[in-house]
Amino acid sequence: MATVIVMERLRDRRVLVTGAGSGIGRATTLRLLEEGAQVVGTDVSAEGLSGTQAAAPPGLTTFTMDVADESSVDSGVKAAVVALGGLDVLVNAAGILLASHTHETSLESWNRVLAVNLTGTFLVTRAALPALLESSAGVVVNFSSTSASFAHPYMAAYSASKGGIQAFTHALALEYGKRGLRAVSIAPGSVKSGITDSAASWLPSDVDFSLFGRLLPILPTDHTTEVGNAVAGPETVAGVVAMLASEDGKFITGTEIRIDGGTHT
Ligand SMILES: NC(=O)c1ccc[n+]([C@@H]2O[C@H](COP(=O)([O-])OP(=O)(O)OC[C@H]3O[C@@H](n4cnc5c(N)ncnc54)[C@H](O)[C@@H]3O)[C@@H](O)[C@H]2O)c1
Repeated sequence: MATVIVMERLRDRRVLVTGAGSGIGRATTLRLLEEGAQVVGTDVSAEGLSGTQAAAPPGLTTFTMDVADESSVDSGVKAAVVALGGLDVLVNAAGILLASHTHETSLESWNRVLAVNLTGTFLVTRAALPALLESSAGVVVNFSSTSASFAHPYMAAYSASKGGIQAFTHALALEYGKRGLRAVSIAPGSVKSGITDSAASWLPSDVDFSLFGRLLPILPTDHTTEVGNAVAGPETVAGVVAMLASEDGKFITGTEIRIDGGTHT
């Protein structure tokens, strides 16, 4: 069944999305624009951003920004706030997944995953907070994962980064709640994206698929990955981010929203 969007509930909302060049970040960017928001979409991939721009209705500005690079973030967020004339919503969707047996994971690989996922979320949020606190209803939507709370094989670094994002989000919610800021983590599982499409390239060569037996959605899904995983489309997550960015989410903060088709029910 196609999604019919009849609302303009995000009219006048000024939004910065990271990771806007692919998967969930792209779907979220398009959904927020469809609901009337003004959006700056950023990504480390200029090619990804061109694809998002090509699919977008009016109202989208894009530029490259590397969330793991402090100076790129500081200048990128500043430019986004100028382009939007302020900031109401930050969506930290940029992320990477490097997987390996834990005993074979290099320090470089561990540090890279933490640098993009966890430190990147911190850097962008820190740079955006002054503008978000000037908004009458600021929102930070961070991307955790079901791997933060439920065992995922070969993903110790990724899972640790996503657990850190949940804890970081709780702290933000309490620290800034009195000033009207909300902070929420989305915890997706099994969503079609660049990460899940490339699973064949990042799984260890001796992968034991039986360890993934606990990671199956109970709801029907529309897609299957190369390695046979049942996954939902990224728009299933985008609609929830749109709700959180709007007045409809005004009493939701300091929590996680799991979107996994009932995998961990
Ligand atoms: N797809 C899933 O099932 C799933 C499950 C749990 C969590 N997530 C999370 O959802 C978020 C979106 O990922 P996705 O699944 O859509 O994957 P994706 O690969 O399609 O999108 C991730 C985007 O982040 C960008 N990116 C990577 N490194 C970056 C950097 N240093 N600076 C800026 N941008 C960078 C990539 O270029 C890409 O466009 C991620 O945080 C991911 O961990 C996804």
